[in-house]
Amino acid sequence: MAIKAITGFQDVLPDRARLFTRLEQAAAEVFARYGYREIRFPQMEFSELFSRSIGQTTDIVEKEMFSLTDSKGRSMSLRPEGTAGVVRAFIQSGLCNREPQARLSYSGAMFRHERPQKGRFRQFHQIGAEAFGSDDPLLDAEVIVMLMEVFEAVGVDDLRLEINSIGDEESRPRFRRALVDFFSGHKAELCKDCLRRLETNPMRILDCKVPSCRKIARDAPIMLGFLGPECQRHFSDVQKFIRAAGTDFVVNERIVRGLDYYTRTAFEVTTDKLGAQDAVAGGGRYDGLVELLGGPALPGVGFAIGVERVVELMGQAEAPARQDVAVMIVPIGEEAREFGVSFAGALRKEGASCQVGLEGRSVKALMRRADKLGARYVLVIGEDEINKGSVDVKDMGADRPRPKNLTEKRLGELFSEAVRNHRAKD
Ligand code: HAM
Repeated sequence: MAIKAITGFQDVLPDRARLFTRLEQAAAEVFARYGYREIRFPQMEFSELFSRSIGQTTDIVEKEMFSLTDSKGRSMSLRPEGTAGVVRAFIQSGLCNREPQARLSYSGAMFRHERPQKGRFRQFHQIGAEAFGSDDPLLDAEVIVMLMEVFEAVGVDDLRLEINSIGDEESRPRFRRALVDFFSGHKAELCKDCLRRLETNPMRILDCKVPSCRKIARDAPIMLGFLGPECQRHFSDVQKFIRAAGTDFVVNERIVRGLDYYTRTAFEVTTDKLGAQDAVAGGGRYDGLVELLGGPALPGVGFAIGVERVVELMGQAEAPARQDVAVMIVPIGEEAREFGVSFAGALRKEGASCQVGLEGRSVKALMRRADKLGARYVLVIGEDEINKGSVDVKDMGADRPRPKNLTEKRLGELFSEAVRNHRAKD
């Protein structure tokens, strides 16, 4: 029996992979304009890195990590997100001292053992950015505006940017107490997990997905009512700067995020086009995290984009207009095949994608294949063409992209040149 992929782990086939690459390139270009530099870090870390940063009592750490124990009894986990690894590398490498205001970006696979459904996978990809060293609300706004620019660059619009402030160490305890008071009056309606969360981490009740808990949570107190004056000013400045950049947003006071490291600004970008898994990106500020992981007291802010979800939106928007090769060479006879190999090499040097038709197919079949591959030009080459040093260039239609700088005339010239080289070899 054939072996299948693991549940929740997907193949990315060429049509999709093309969109992945386009998104990654667009993000890299946008990030570079804001002074971000790429960082790569391991896909597996000691589990403690995630439990300490994301939080011992979050769903991610409690239920969703792919973990193993090594021969020395140490627990390691596949990374469920990128921020923890970036911060660890930032500290361990000493970058936090050499470049405390580092702006770092990354792209890669993340792993969460969630129940797979449309838009939710166990291996998925994120593109993320993290900016360290400043708690200036201007930086929060800039990070958010940069994120929205990535979506714009790949033509994904119709998104909702939702922002909130979830306070800081000073305001959080008051909010916690208010949540405990509120949910204690609704114990009978809470799920088993939330009853436990009431003791361990009441804020996590606010992002429980169980319908009865969600219903109660709708009337729960909101963080905005508990913000101290500093946090309030920070949040209103973040909004001021996002507005100044001309980016639309709404305040959604229900955003809490599923990770414990956040302070103050928290945001999500959502869409109506993907069903239940509607968040295409999320992020926020995490001012205590670098210190919590053993580094200096440096604030940070960042986000991660869910690549599969954005690619799905890109795919919905575009009909796949394919061009796998621009020029198809159809050789007739052994000499033409040999010539075709060197001619194709010359065309590729000119920057054109090209294929030489393979053995065992009729000219007609090769023409059909050229059509299917979206080729703009087809050159049928036999003994005659090689003897004459000229060839008819068949144009498959003006609707197909023409290879850069390669006019029909130039193709003809390159052909003649290739014939001369071919003859010189004999
Ligand atoms: P997150 O909200 O957990 O944040 O994930 C960011 C995005 O990754 C989500 O909005 C979603 O698009 C995508 N995503 C998450 N889980 C899955 C899944 N199972 N399948 C498919 N896509 C998924 C973080 O991970 C933070 N590290 C973001 C951040 C960076 N905050 C500050 N800096």
